[in-house]
Amino acid sequence: QALEPYRNPAIPLPTDIFGRRANSAGIDLSDPLVREPLMERLEALEAKQWVAEPTFMSSAEGEMAPINKPHDLTAQVGTRRDALDFEVEEAISRAEAIQPGWNALGGEKRALLLEAAADLFEDHTDEFLSLCQREAGKTLQDAVLELREAVDFLRFYASEARRLFAAPIALPGPTGEENRLSLAGRGVFACISPWNFPLAIFIGPPAAALAAGNTVVAKPAEQTPLIAALAVRLCHEAGIPEDAFQLLPGAGDVGEMITSDPRIAGVAFTGSTQTAQAINRSLAGRDGPIATFIAETGGQNAMIVDSTALPEQVTRDVVASAFQSAGQRCSALRVLHIQDDVYDEMLAMIRGAFEALTIGDPEELSTDVGPVIDPDAKAALERHVARRKTGGAQVWRRKLHRGSSKGCYVAPTIIELDSILDLKRENFGPVLHVVRYRASEIDRVMEEINATGYGLTLGLHSRNDDMRAYIEARAKVGNFYVNRNQIGAVVESQPFGGEGLSGTGPKAGGPHYVARFATERVVCIDT
Ligand code: SER
Repeated sequence: QALEPYRNPAIPLPTDIFGRRANSAGIDLSDPLVREPLMERLEALEAKQWVAEPTFMSSAEGEMAPINKPHDLTAQVGTRRDALDFEVEEAISRAEAIQPGWNALGGEKRALLLEAAADLFEDHTDEFLSLCQREAGKTLQDAVLELREAVDFLRFYASEARRLFAAPIALPGPTGEENRLSLAGRGVFACISPWNFPLAIFIGPPAAALAAGNTVVAKPAEQTPLIAALAVRLCHEAGIPEDAFQLLPGAGDVGEMITSDPRIAGVAFTGSTQTAQAINRSLAGRDGPIATFIAETGGQNAMIVDSTALPEQVTRDVVASAFQSAGQRCSALRVLHIQDDVYDEMLAMIRGAFEALTIGDPEELSTDVGPVIDPDAKAALERHVARRKTGGAQVWRRKLHRGSSKGCYVAPTIIELDSILDLKRENFGPVLHVVRYRASEIDRVMEEINATGYGLTLGLHSRNDDMRAYIEARAKVGNFYVNRNQIGAVVESQPFGGEGLSGTGPKAGGPHYVARFATERVVCIDT
């Protein structure tokens, strides 16, 4: 297969004024000259039907399952053909056979191929935006951010391939001894990704694994295989060999078959804490080499607002953190803690902004909050709200729009709680909990936030530097955001990932990520 990377000469790699690598500029939706033609092009893609199939296909006929819009379960976007057992086997064999050659290409060539894929992703902006909206129910703004993050992951990990794999590091030693350390791919990586970032988190871990000299079998979430299939196809068009990066659509059984295969050298998983724990147990129980396990999981993310915070800023950032993407971000704010002195005033302002949110069809530009991903997600969120209501909690809910019953809509909700510890699990959707605390109770608040065992994001709104230092010293989270929202980590600027029940690290988009996919080798020569 060709290893000459396609590059679009019309797209120079983005750089800043110092010539350093820069993140993708995205699309300015506030400019009507950009937005209106884009909306027309997206409309033209409205009827397109997509297919997700395994990269390697045996002659056997598989069953085609429909993929429908989360916001209109009667509207089909495409079909998914799950990988059969034999195809999983064969995919891993092929990935294993080509891995030494892929590793031997070296960091520079792998980087060029990943950059070529990033260019092709940008060339196919319309298709990706359309799929983010129709397959995953994302608003256009979220879709634009998602594509940007995907492109940034490809280009950043390409630059990491160059940095980490350029030449061995010379190590000290006595005269007459030469020591050098180099990195190499571990083998075949399994990458298992979630539906909430069906493009960015689908492509990020494979891009890092490929950058590090591994080959990849990737299983996208069963709800969102279509966008993943387009991503893999473009990587192949960019020059990455098919055997080096293979798509294996399917549900949990396909994931289990992949991760229990002793030929898998490592697993990069993003999804629920429970599934990560199950994969960890399965890796521990299988034969073969000890696998590397990288997991990014859920959170019970809190924000603390003290009496020095600016109410308008708090309102804007709380609403974005809790309700953007219909709350379906692992970083999203779940439990807002407001100091007693300003509680009523702050909550009234937040409720005002909450009442102004437009809930609707994500394909409409005016929509702020779209659907949740599927009927199971909706049912779980509704059960949670009903339990809290039955328990006597104060609950505010928005009314849903007309036509919402066609899709998986959950009315944005605010629930008062006594403590974050009243919540036993993450509620992955547009549900914000609010807790009142007195200034003298801040120790207890921090203890309770840490006692959840999760450690993904924490927000603080305060103008008091001592308070910031106090919280920062106690926070056991991967990402701490001060006086801003707590979502939308930017590749390289805010490497993302948590600790405890929220994941193993390393942080996606950070300087230690790609190295974790590699193995270290030392050569010592007596000269
Ligand atoms: N990386 C995303 C964010 O920061 C969450 O998955 O919002």
